[in-house]
Amino acid sequence: MLSGTSLVLGIETSCDETGAAVVEGGVRVRSNVVASQTETHAEYGGVVPELASRAHCERILPVVRSALREAGVGLADIRAVAVGHRPGLIGPLLVGVSGAKALAWSLGVPFIGVDHVRAHLYAGCLSADDVPAQAAEFPALGLVVSGGHTSIYLVESWTSVTRLGGTIDDAMGEAYDKAATILGLPYPGGPEVDRLACAPGANDRAFDLPVSRLGAGSLDFSFSGLKTAVLYSVRGVPGKRGEAAAPALDEIRRRDLAASFQRVAVKSVIVKLERAVEFLRAEKGTRCRTLLAGGGVTANSRLRVELMEFARRADLGLRLPAMRLCVDNGAMIAGLAFELWKAGEVSDLSLSAVPTVTS
Ligand code: KG4
Ligand code: ZN
Repeated sequence: MLSGTSLVLGIETSCDETGAAVVEGGVRVRSNVVASQTETHAEYGGVVPELASRAHCERILPVVRSALREAGVGLADIRAVAVGHRPGLIGPLLVGVSGAKALAWSLGVPFIGVDHVRAHLYAGCLSADDVPAQAAEFPALGLVVSGGHTSIYLVESWTSVTRLGGTIDDAMGEAYDKAATILGLPYPGGPEVDRLACAPGANDRAFDLPVSRLGAGSLDFSFSGLKTAVLYSVRGVPGKRGEAAAPALDEIRRRDLAASFQRVAVKSVIVKLERAVEFLRAEKGTRCRTLLAGGGVTANSRLRVELMEFARRADLGLRLPAMRLCVDNGAMIAGLAFELWKAGEVSDLSLSAVPTVTS
């Protein structure tokens, strides 16, 4: 039976983090354990799906045990088991889905499949660290920016989420990771580019990089042009006769290029959020009340500041996750599952893992 203090165990295995968390009443994070596989994949410069699946198999039970221990509870206290079942890498998803089904079945509690991308939208509503719990107020504008996704949503309730636009090529985090590789920074590069962009003296106007706007009213994103512009700034423009080779990439140039990339990448997002607010108001008569932002890139220092400024300008209450809840984690899965459970959206044990985005 669901109550305001029900404990939900959330499991996340869609990519390269094995996550398990215990969340009370949909908002209070009692524990949140994430085992990262960064070292496993670092030498390949990206996630190798088969290695990720194996690592999830090895880690899922120890991670669940740690989450229970840190929350100070036992399996008998868990009232529902939730899992991110879509989208993601199929092998990794199957590990989480199978493990969560087995736990829910053996405990005799509800089993709830959760959309990973929507769970990112929920992360800013959880209480963790110094971020207090704040419920979403609907209708809300949603933004997910991660290694695999970059999309804008209209969120009318936790069971009514409509995608308004998304990337037509690279995801924002992917663009960060690729720019980092071009700049000779270690994988995963997003946090490294952020760190360098914030270094003392960094000039974010040193390079004139393109802000992708696409068509006049487009709510889609494109990061491939920006990535290519970074590449040409480092290696020179190919095939142009008489073009001077790019100067050597010294520390100052690397720092300024990181800062210029960060300014433009963040601006491309803010431009689309401004358009989305205008589109919803003018075309649908919808005035959003909150902005729900989530995904690994919401850990970015400049994006966090500019999202706060944008939300203030647009008169939106901002729900921005605590730093450790930006990246993939089980708490966001457990939190959203509680809302789905309240709305009667419980899954059955025939639920499949789905690799693709379905909404
Ligand atoms: O949400 P997430 O853990 O995984 C996906 O669902 O994709 O996001 C991971 C992505 C990576 O591309 C990583 O480089 C990026 O988030 N990221 C950042 C920062 N921290 C993580 N990108 C820019 N600045 C950061 N501080
Ligand atoms: Zn994610």
